Amino acid sequence: MTKITASKIKKAFKGEVIIPADKSISHRSLLLSAIAKGTTKIFNLLESDDVLATKSALENMGVPIKKISNNSKTYYEVTGTEKLKSPKCELYLGNSGTSARLLAGLIAGSNINACITGDFSLSKRPMQRVIEPLTKIGAKFEQLGENSLPLKIQGTSKPKAINYKMPVASAQLKSAILLATLKSDGTTKITEPRQSRDHTETMLKAFGVKVTEYQLKNCTNTILIDGNSQLISPKILEVPADPSSAAFLTAAALLYPDSDLTLKDVCINPSRIGLYEVLSMMGANIEFINKRQVGGEDIADIRVKYTKNLKAVQIDESFVPKMIDEYPILSIIATMATGTTTMVGLGELRLKESNRLEKIASGLKLCGVKTKIIGDNLTIYGTSGKAPAGDVFIKTGFDHRIAMSFLILGGVSQKPITIDSG
Ligand code: S3P
Repeated sequence: MTKITASKIKKAFKGEVIIPADKSISHRSLLLSAIAKGTTKIFNLLESDDVLATKSALENMGVPIKKISNNSKTYYEVTGTEKLKSPKCELYLGNSGTSARLLAGLIAGSNINACITGDFSLSKRPMQRVIEPLTKIGAKFEQLGENSLPLKIQGTSKPKAINYKMPVASAQLKSAILLATLKSDGTTKITEPRQSRDHTETMLKAFGVKVTEYQLKNCTNTILIDGNSQLISPKILEVPADPSSAAFLTAAALLYPDSDLTLKDVCINPSRIGLYEVLSMMGANIEFINKRQVGGEDIADIRVKYTKNLKAVQIDESFVPKMIDEYPILSIIATMATGTTTMVGLGELRLKESNRLEKIASGLKLCGVKTKIIGDNLTIYGTSGKAPAGDVFIKTGFDHRIAMSFLILGGVSQKPITIDSG
């Protein structure tokens, strides 16, 4: 087992940083290009294990994908097909929940059979939430063991349009249904309790599909999508930087004295930037500059300066979908704030790559920070800028967001923090 240790930072973080490409948009750019008419060049695709798992699954389903490097430019070229093929092997998706849910949707709405599988952690994550609506459109599922994966999927050549009320605001679930009903026999209506990230809807529009959305006063978000949709490649897609990755350097710049960082070309889609709304309420010195649009997504450079007196705030349930992946790092920032932070409605965090709610609370307790979980709510008693003790070993549960969060905390704690890295 490899270990990584973070010790107190001695030099401020200054300058401009290129942040890795957005993971959610990378998955979607491969998936939609794969079933579109024409060839799509994808620039700045995130080459992480999760995204490469989606790429290799699509290749096994007969989609030609080439990496092309010429002079200074590298891009992926995807040749879309209207007829996916049943893969000859199991589709191994590693640790990637987004690959599992979105591919389940794509396969369910195509006339093919496939078996998806994954690592120990992915195999235990819930798939029933996608199986239920995808069964309604006509696909069949068979769980091969006692876990959610391996899962055999028999897609349908005639997907039925459905009217579906999602029990939870989940972009993975919503996207699975959208992908499954693209060729259905009518208009599908999906209602989520609150809007989750809308990258699939935005990208479908770029591929010429009619998608209509509306939000009601009770906060529900409804999406209508036409069946018999023909996707036409927009020829070029460019993936912006990932706000969820930017969040870690945002925390570093806020917490490490004298820092002043500019994070370049970050996606600031309103359904992703709950963290920045909360940080603004906490009094953080953050500015979005050079705002512009790329491929229908809002982007900006984010300038973050060290902020000495961050104030604790109460974070209600409405923030959950728009900062679902940012609670671990927000908890680290809340640790250094003045006052008590309470974050409400974090049940979904128990179902991520690890049980994040437990991992955050137990890790902070080990570091000497008082925390409390009551039901699905997390309370963190801030230290008013006083460095936590540290000198601990954090078991990350192989969860990258837990790992990175505690490494950032190691940069301000009195003694180093060590993590296992899988
Ligand atoms: C994702 C959606 C979120 C998020 C995940 C990526 C996506 O999950 O946690 O990291 O790309 O759709 P849920 O939609 O299940 O909340």
